[in-house]
Amino acid sequence: MPATGQSADVARNARDLPDETRNARSLPDEARAAPDGTTDREEPAGTAALEWRDGGIPVSTRFDDPYFSLANGLAETRHVFLAGNGLPGRFRPGFHIAELGFGTGLNMLATLVSWTAAGVPGRLRYTSFEAFPMSAPDIARALRAFPEAEAIAGPFLDAWAAGHSRFVNDTLDLTVVIGDARQTLPRWPDRADAWYLDGFSPAKNPELWSGDLMAEVARHTAPGGSFATYTAAGHVRRALAAAGFAVSRLPGHGTKRHMSAGVLPE
Ligand SMILES: C[S@@+](CC[C@H](N)C(=O)[O-])C[C@H]1O[C@@H](n2cnc3c(N)ncnc32)[C@H](O)[C@@H]1O
Repeated sequence: MPATGQSADVARNARDLPDETRNARSLPDEARAAPDGTTDREEPAGTAALEWRDGGIPVSTRFDDPYFSLANGLAETRHVFLAGNGLPGRFRPGFHIAELGFGTGLNMLATLVSWTAAGVPGRLRYTSFEAFPMSAPDIARALRAFPEAEAIAGPFLDAWAAGHSRFVNDTLDLTVVIGDARQTLPRWPDRADAWYLDGFSPAKNPELWSGDLMAEVARHTAPGGSFATYTAAGHVRRALAAAGFAVSRLPGHGTKRHMSAGVLPE
């Protein structure tokens, strides 16, 4: 879709707003589960529905929420998801990150930049759950705002454009599990060392923050593993605590006062 030319005020990241200013919206019927671990991406019934604001910010028209912070998506990723999970300090060979919401792949690419800079031998394992995959051209357009991520995105984008949801090279072992995470995560046979919880805002994308799903996140976390998320919504923190995480509220990124992170006791 063409840029709408709307102002930054109109496009303000709903993830930065208090919960009561947002309207909840449930997942559309077209969200469809697919088997996990596939190598070829099935064309899902629900693909990302986008508009572009301020020239380069993809906004989901389905969820009425931007894919990343208007302030600085890459800096937010590093603050919230990497530092929130104690990364890069916890990286070790075989380290496995899982994510709710693959979106543009920006979190994955930012993590890969950090992994490579840390000089960890072998591949970063990264599994992301996504119901409404973006097209390769849309991802490429979104990444133009982040030259560091764009610089290493080429081989992944080629594989994604060819319909692959698994991508393996010398430094990365990526799987994107296509389908509604409420169906695909319970069937996932693995456990992550760190989770990135990156759905759209809890008020606009409540199905990705439910107590049941947070319990599945905990069930799929290695002992001593962690999660981080930009939201400090009380119901999300309570759900993660009930699932077994020791939850902390930390300073947020940019204008956001707080975020959340936690560790699953050994
Ligand atoms: C804020 S965006 C994620 C941004 C992404 N991490 C990045 O680096 O660009 C939220 C993502 O969650 C996905 N999503 C929403 N509901 C979902 C569900 N029930 N299951 C799986 N993915 C879902 C959306 O399609 C969207 O791609």
